[in-house]
Amino acid sequence: MQKKLLITGGAGFIGSHVVRLFVQKYPDYQVYNLDALTYAGNLENLKDIEEYPNYTFIKADITDAEAINNLFVQHQFDGVIHLAAESHVDRSITNPNAFIQTNVMGTANLLNAARETWKGNYDGKRFYHVSTDEVYGSLGAEGFFLETTPYDPQSPYSASKASSDHLVRAYGNTYGLPFVITNCSNNYGPNQFPEKLIPLFINNICTNKPLPVYGDGKYTRDWLFVVDHAAAIDLVYHKGKNAETYNIGGFNEWQNIELVKLLCTKMDEKLGREPGTSAQLITYIKDRPGHDRRYAIDASKINKELGWYPSVTFEEGLSKTIDWYLENQEWLNDITSGAYQNYYETQYSTQS
Ligand code: NAD
Ligand code: TYD
Repeated sequence: MQKKLLITGGAGFIGSHVVRLFVQKYPDYQVYNLDALTYAGNLENLKDIEEYPNYTFIKADITDAEAINNLFVQHQFDGVIHLAAESHVDRSITNPNAFIQTNVMGTANLLNAARETWKGNYDGKRFYHVSTDEVYGSLGAEGFFLETTPYDPQSPYSASKASSDHLVRAYGNTYGLPFVITNCSNNYGPNQFPEKLIPLFINNICTNKPLPVYGDGKYTRDWLFVVDHAAAIDLVYHKGKNAETYNIGGFNEWQNIELVKLLCTKMDEKLGREPGTSAQLITYIKDRPGHDRRYAIDASKINKELGWYPSVTFEEGLSKTIDWYLENQEWLNDITSGAYQNYYETQYSTQS
């Protein structure tokens, strides 16, 4: 029988790469992409696969419990890969409630619908929750996040994701719902909304706008190419052990300022500008409140148990990412008009 797989948030950055991978790799699965198409959701991301016979788009909001229940009754999904979320830390600082609604209540609605539909017959069923390393809080100069690291979320975003992780585990523990959770580090790559560091700075360099570096710029993140995250999700969905957590990371830590300097060098090369031109745009601005100092993932469990490892180096991934943005100016122009301008003004105009 055909497997009916629900992917939530498939019109967003990571979700669109996951949908593409599953639609193309598993022609015998029927893949349903459920997305509310918020500011971060864009069906342009999936233009190349929208005509595939095993792909269906459903416009729905996970905060609407009735709509979600009806969809489960109608389609009888066997599996769920849940990515739909409010995902940007800065937005969670200005509007935490949207994060609590979507990330906590929305996840609860999906869990309830899955539980009700599967009614204790869990054969061949799986609820996969896609989460973040930010639930573990902030590291000092040393150490790594392990799957056993206690949760210590610091921002409304990470607190909402931590809540949803706890709910998923609680449904597994209480009702036996089959689940798996992955906590991944910072992603980068094609189709990322230009509010996050790398696409924002690529866009600003192209348009000669300041590059707003928060605080002293010495905050550290572990960067992973989005296509490698999608490959890890495929592996964990099919081979991960029930009720387990897997950390996913890039083995690739960078201080923000060092990453920005590398990006500037690459952009000068790609745009044929004099070396040093883009770096002149670097502008230190007021820090993000509660800014987590360092994230670093120990991804040895997924590596040892499932054989996953990133397929591209950071140099390669960054180069591919820059090329994609330079070749897709129209995509960028479409989403940086309208509401984006207001967001940008509010976020950055008073911060220098
Ligand atoms: P994104 O913001 O690019 O996409 C989120 C998608 O969810 C959008 O298509 C949006 O329309 C949809 N959505 C939002 N609210 C919705 C709602 N109420 N109902 C239905 N759809 C809704 O996010 P992303 O960066 O692709 O992240 C995807 C997931 O991966 C999130 O759960 C995030 O927490 C997690 N994650 C992201 C990163 C990262 O670096 N971006 C790292 C680790 C984990
Ligand atoms: P971001 O891409 O927002 O991801 P996250 O906050 O989830 O890690 O930010 C990555 C890092 O870059 C983080 O330390 C904040 C910093 N940053 C800036 O310095 N300036 C910016 O304009 C943005 C968006 C981020």
